[in-house]
Order: sequence, then C-alpha cells, then structure tokens
Amino acid sequence: MQDKSDLAKSNTDKVWSGRFNEPVSELVKRYTASVDFDKRLATFDIQGSLAHSKMLGAQGIISQEDVAKIAQGLNEILQEIEAGQFEWRLDLEDVHLNIEKRLTDKIGDAGKRLHTGRSRNDQVSTDVRLWLRAVADDVIAGIRKLQNSIVDLAEAHFDTAMPGFTHLQVAQPVTFGHHLLAYFEMLQRDAARFSDARKRINRLPLGAAALAGTSYPIDREMVAKELGFDGVCENSLDAVSDRDFAIEFTAAAALVMTHLSRFSEELILWSSPRFAFVDIADRFCTGSSIMPQKKNPDVPELVRGKTGRVTGHLMALLTLMKSQPLAYNKDNQEDKEPLFDTADTLLVTLEIYADMLRGIKVNKEAMRKAATEGFATATDLADYLVKKGTPFRDAHEVVALAVRHAVDKGCDLSDLPLAELQKFSAQISEDVYQVLTLEGSLASRNHVGGTAPAQVKQAIARARKVLAA
Ligand code: ARG
Repeated sequence: MQDKSDLAKSNTDKVWSGRFNEPVSELVKRYTASVDFDKRLATFDIQGSLAHSKMLGAQGIISQEDVAKIAQGLNEILQEIEAGQFEWRLDLEDVHLNIEKRLTDKIGDAGKRLHTGRSRNDQVSTDVRLWLRAVADDVIAGIRKLQNSIVDLAEAHFDTAMPGFTHLQVAQPVTFGHHLLAYFEMLQRDAARFSDARKRINRLPLGAAALAGTSYPIDREMVAKELGFDGVCENSLDAVSDRDFAIEFTAAAALVMTHLSRFSEELILWSSPRFAFVDIADRFCTGSSIMPQKKNPDVPELVRGKTGRVTGHLMALLTLMKSQPLAYNKDNQEDKEPLFDTADTLLVTLEIYADMLRGIKVNKEAMRKAATEGFATATDLADYLVKKGTPFRDAHEVVALAVRHAVDKGCDLSDLPLAELQKFSAQISEDVYQVLTLEGSLASRNHVGGTAPAQVKQAIARARKVLAA
C-alpha cells in the first residue's frame, strides 16, 4: 500500500492535504478558490506577515535568523507582485497560501515557521481591515473633494433664485446655493460615518489564531502597534468571525450613493429641456445612435443605477453574516467581492462627481422664470397678512382664494393689480409687492438654515472652515 502522505503529496500541493484520501476535484478547486479576487490584498498580507514574524522573533518563538530570512523573502515577493511577475496559482486557494508557498520555496524551513501561532482566519480578517482602513481614508478624501466642488458652485450661486420643490411641485423660492449646500450637509454626515466606522475597522484580529487564541507567548499589542491598529480585538471568537466592520463600511457607502442618486435625479431632471436649469458638460454625456438631437446625462444616470448595486452589496453582506454560528465559516470568503466592488464603485463615483460639478453650466434665467411661475411666493403673502394681524389659518385661506383667482386669470400673484388683491383682504396695501418678489421672499428667510443669500454666504464660510480643518 502506498504511504498515505506520499499519496496526498503526489496528488496535491495543498498545505492541509495530509488528512485527506483524495484531492479535491477540479470543479471544487475552482469553486473554493479565492485567489482571483483576494490577490488584491497581497501587500496587506505581506505587511501583516512582516509584523507577525517580527513579534514571533521578539518573543523568542522563532529565531532572529528566521525573522531576517522571512523579511527578505517577503520583500522579494512584494517586488515580484508589484512587477507583475508573481505566478498566482489557483490550486493554492487564496492570497495567503500563494504567498506562503512562494516564501517557503525561496527560504525553506524559515518560511514554514511564519504561520506559527497564526491561522488564515485571523490573517484574512487582518488583511481586510488593513485594506479597508486605507480605503476609508481615500473615501473621506474623495468626499472632501466633492464637497469642495459643491461649495464652489454654491458660492457662484449664493443668490441665484430657483423654485424649491416639495412633491416636485413648486413650493417656495430658494437660492441655488442653498439647494446645493443641502448636499454638502449630507456628505458631511457621510464623512463622519466613515471616520467613525474606521475606529472599529482599525482593530487587530491577529492572535485570535483559528478561533481560540494560541498557546505561544505572543505579544498582540506589539503587532497592533507595528501595523498602526488602535488596539486588539478583545475576543478571539469574535475577531475571526464577525464582518460587521465591512457591513458598516458598505452601509455608509450605500448612504453616500443614495445621497448622490438624489443629486443625480435632480441633475437629470434639470438638464432635461423641460427644466433647462443646467447644462452638464459634454464629456459627461453621450448621444443617441438614432436620435441626432439627444444629449443624455449618462453619468448621473449611472450613479443612480450604481446606487442599486452598492445597496445590493450591503444586502449581500448582511445576508452572508446572518445566522452564521461562531466562529469562522467559509461563508466569510464571500465578503470580499461585494466589499471590493463597493469600494471601487464609491471611489470612482466620488471622483467623477467632483469633476462633473465643475463642468455644470447654470441657466439662471430659466431657474428664475420657473420660480416666478407656480405661485412660489404664496406663503410669503400669507406671512405678510399674519404680520398685519390676520391669524395664519385665515391668511392661508385668503391666499388660496387669491391663487385660484390668479390661476383663472392665467397670471402670477404679483401680476394682480392692488385693487384686485384687496378684494381678498382689506389688510393688503401697496407694500405687498415687495414680499411677492423673489428677492423679497428669499431675503426674508434670514436665519441659520434659511435660504436668504446672506445666510448662504455664512453657510459657505462655515463649510470652507470645515474643509480646511
Ligand atoms: N480565503 C479565506 C477567506 O477569505 C481565508 C480563510 C480560510 N480559512 C480556512 N479555515 N479555510 O476567508
């Protein structure tokens, strides 16, 4: 009878093959391998291994000679990967085993000692956290850039009048600058969510080993410090099994995308000739292969569409985690593709959006005209009557009747002669026309959070301060 370990060796290179009677089928090999996508964690995997081996040496668990060989080997491997010369092997399953095997081929037994006191379970969570921490920083920087674009555009339009909508019906006049700054605020909260999530991402799983910790005298704090983590995961079972940090990141990403989908929807509407409020630069649009007149707002439409994709990733990750018993389960290998795609989609969206806003042309006249249609200053007339002593509910009724009259006549409230307006209330006098103008309406909303141009200027100053901090 053939020796079992020989048999395993002859069939496969797998590190765990000693226990098995037969190799996995080709199909299973492909089904279970993750190297095609997790190889993008390679630099972080090497970073983690360097810190781990340094600690093993400092604790006397492996020799300093081995530590030096491991460092040398890993640095060479890093160069091979960066030069595109590294041969990724599907039969070595994942990024971790590919790198470890190459290391052992290079430096022999020292390479085989790297995995002492460690498991791929704490290793993979460490790698993902290192990667995601860097991504979170990039996302925050991307949000800041976009906020800068928004503030610049808002500044140019701090007093540009446009209709504000509720139910997509003309409601009250607002300044375009004020409208834009609403998105600044949303993104401000988004950035805060990423910095908060980063605190929980930035904890070290290594030392948890497979699930229960390890019997070697390790120094987890040292590894945490070496890798720039704020601290260690306090429970080994939790450290290897939970992916809540990835879910949180994806939830924050889905919210950014949701905010941008709203902005996109507005840009799509506003760039339609029916609104004609804005013109999106040609480089963000495409034409139609059949209708020569078309200029389609592809970028905002795709942002709107990709929001579904990122929200889908959030659902995938939540569903992946749901009902998993402690501790690590292979299910968790499925966290990477949604997470990677979330990061890629979000980062490129932020970049393209910041650029797109710089190429927006605003049609002030169209905005203004739309704001003068649809009785946007009706509330101002009611407020005027209240200030003259009419109870608000009565004022509301008076204005409703006046609006109906204007609708019948096919004109705006400000087009009605004084005598006609006075039929609705004796309290109306010549000064009413001031409040019925767009400028009067805008200027009157002069408090923190209001749309008055003076307030928009102050909001811009506050925003600039936040961005400079
Ligand atoms: N490729 C695996 C993952 O992404 C690494 C951890 C595998 N652990 C194990 N015990 N099979 O989750």
